[in-house]
Amino acid sequence: MARRGATYRCATWRRSVHKPSLPHDSAALHVAGTARYVDDLPEPGDLLHLAFGQGSEAHARIVAMDLDAVRAVPGVVAVYTAADIPGENDVSPLADDDRLLADGVVTYVGQPVFLVAATSREAARRAARMGRIDYEPLPALLTIDAARAAGSQIEPVQRMARGDADAALGAAAHRLAGGFAMGGQDHFYLEGQVALATPGEQGQVHVLSSTQHPSEVQHLIAQVLDVSSADVTVEVRRMGGAFGGKETQAAAFAAAAALVATTTGRPAKFRCDRDDDMVMTGKRHDFAVKWDVGFDDAGRIGGLRLTLSSRCGATVDLSPGINDRAMFHSDNCYFLPDVEIVSERWRTNTVSATAFRGFGGPQGMLAIERVMDAIAAHLGLDPLDVRVANLYGPGRDVTPYGMTVADNIAPDLIARLRADARYDERRAAIDAFNADSPVLKRGIALTPVKFGISFTVTHLNQAGALVHLYADGSIQVNHGGTEMGQGLYVKVAQVVADVFALPVEAIRITATRTDKVPNTSATAASSGADLNGMAAHNAAVTIRERVTAFLARTYGCDEGAVAFTPAGVVVGGETIPFGTVARKAHLGRVSLSATGFYATPHILYDRAAHKGRPFYYFAYGAAVSEVVIDTLTGEQRVLAVDILHDVGRSLNPAIDLGQIEGAFVQGQGWLTTEELVFDDAGRLLTHSPATYKIPTASDRPARLTIALWDGGNVEPTINRSKAVGEPPFMLALSVFSALSAAVAATNPAARAPVPLDAPATPEAILRAIGAYRAA
Ligand code: MTE
Ligand code: MOS
Repeated sequence: MARRGATYRCATWRRSVHKPSLPHDSAALHVAGTARYVDDLPEPGDLLHLAFGQGSEAHARIVAMDLDAVRAVPGVVAVYTAADIPGENDVSPLADDDRLLADGVVTYVGQPVFLVAATSREAARRAARMGRIDYEPLPALLTIDAARAAGSQIEPVQRMARGDADAALGAAAHRLAGGFAMGGQDHFYLEGQVALATPGEQGQVHVLSSTQHPSEVQHLIAQVLDVSSADVTVEVRRMGGAFGGKETQAAAFAAAAALVATTTGRPAKFRCDRDDDMVMTGKRHDFAVKWDVGFDDAGRIGGLRLTLSSRCGATVDLSPGINDRAMFHSDNCYFLPDVEIVSERWRTNTVSATAFRGFGGPQGMLAIERVMDAIAAHLGLDPLDVRVANLYGPGRDVTPYGMTVADNIAPDLIARLRADARYDERRAAIDAFNADSPVLKRGIALTPVKFGISFTVTHLNQAGALVHLYADGSIQVNHGGTEMGQGLYVKVAQVVADVFALPVEAIRITATRTDKVPNTSATAASSGADLNGMAAHNAAVTIRERVTAFLARTYGCDEGAVAFTPAGVVVGGETIPFGTVARKAHLGRVSLSATGFYATPHILYDRAAHKGRPFYYFAYGAAVSEVVIDTLTGEQRVLAVDILHDVGRSLNPAIDLGQIEGAFVQGQGWLTTEELVFDDAGRLLTHSPATYKIPTASDRPARLTIALWDGGNVEPTINRSKAVGEPPFMLALSVFSALSAAVAATNPAARAPVPLDAPATPEAILRAIGAYRAA
């Protein structure tokens, strides 16, 4: 590894010879700039470019709209309002409440009100600013507090409870209450929202979209155009990052492009400008948390009441599932005997919040980790000892939603990381450093991760694949999963290559298309490889079985005497090259194309009661972070990070290590530098990289060690691997707890919870220091 300061230790790496650490299939193209994204494709001569005219008010009735000046801009070919939509004016995933173009009212600043098609992107964007819209203002609810005061919710308050939290709180030896706020996060994918629609015959349309959810985009376009799903084909070769921001948010741009293409008969491309993208598309939910906890002298929790309040924005989007996942993860690795988790989902006049890596999990887990830190501060204990005292274990292994934690490796994993990272030794050294250092204060923290794998909406846990074996022995693989940089395509290609004992180069990966594999779920919930890997495996096995039966017939031997090996296919005593076998099978009239399907078994969830087994299994991990803060400026640096993470038996350790590192740094950004600021009129002030700071190379921890936990999945997942996309995001909670420990070092006698809100910007750290010194 040539990366500066990074060490990767990986026991499973060498062991799994047949699962090599192959580079990402597009790695060479990525670095050479030859990987083609939608905006890189050659443009047809009659291409139209699109832009939305945006609403300027947070909540208002549209009383008049004059678009003459828009139409007069040279190059403008067509202008659309809600009245020009032939089908349903809706691009929402669940609740039919996301208008493609505003219809009479606007409910957040930046909402699309009209659509411009022009011969150049510049003309479309210039014209989009020329609309004259008269508004009658309506009361705008911008914050969680304002929404609560007005009773404005996207769905009723949800409760997940066990036992008697009140009684347990009353009976506990110690009781403590507190709260804090955590911010949202912009996805900041490097490729913004984009779609290119090409009209076909008889009202049909083909759309290249940068989406995690081609099937949903297909169905929504069909609804908008009032055609059937069979008339719409959506294709995705790759996204330049998505992170949940293209699970639902791609639909509006794709539907706009399809609308223009089908009504003008010309191809139409919508490449959203970066600032517009940041204003117009949803982000991670920000949360306000309140907690009330009872515990014993060792810090072990007896009773807990937790209230999670989130700002969902103007429409429902995926907020029910995201807030459910926050509830599911507010236990993290800890047994909560008597517990009540209350989840409030507030509707506000801000852009609708959406999926973002972890899907509410990070918010729920940060809540309980802050409770752990508060208990430790109150009792004067090491926070890690408090965490360990609360872990799930024998006789304490059922979650608040009634699922038994059957695969609990957290205690062993934490113990190993504690030793390997020399946590106790370093903590003592940091205490000594802080005693002598008036301005710089250091902090260290170890926090664990337990993340539930499966969509909590049960029917989404299915996938399809299509595998073709050509007569020359080459193979094409297609499946419903999309590639956003996470390495799904190469993992699935490896799975298929293994079925035939071929090198991965023999497998050609093809773009995800709704006309190849229909009715797919979003590539989300980290389940891409679990679901599509298994579906592709099943398709490949079907072909292998047909070929095996054919060979046994032809050679007059048992099927058991046929074996696919790296040297070729062994039949009886003979070894035949794979390409020859394929040709023979074709001449023998064997079908060499197969679909595969997979549905996750055993999962079941009663949402009304918030009880059941929503997850097939859990992915685990833990991280130790060491930080330093400057108590005069509030600036912070992450000095060293040690990660031990569980990916089961890795399908591809190189890809998994990349996912862990990227997720960690993205989590670090959420909790330290990335701050979304809306003004009093509901306008997003931080809508460009000049005002919104994502982590850069210099923010990456100076020392970062990542090791993979050496163990398989207890469930029979594809090759016993585990999902990796989201879980390591939450390893970054250790950075936040370490920063909080550093703040606590400014007043060691205080023994109070550190009042630090996320993100821990320099301002937030200074505020916390001021309050803590006064505590
Ligand atoms: N990695 C890269 N490079 N780019 C991305 O957009 N998205 C993350 C994660 N890792 C993302 C990524 C999110 S939010 C999810 S849910 C998973 O990848 C989705 O892919 P998977 O299910 O194949 O892991
Ligand atoms: Mo990921 S937030 O499930 O797209």
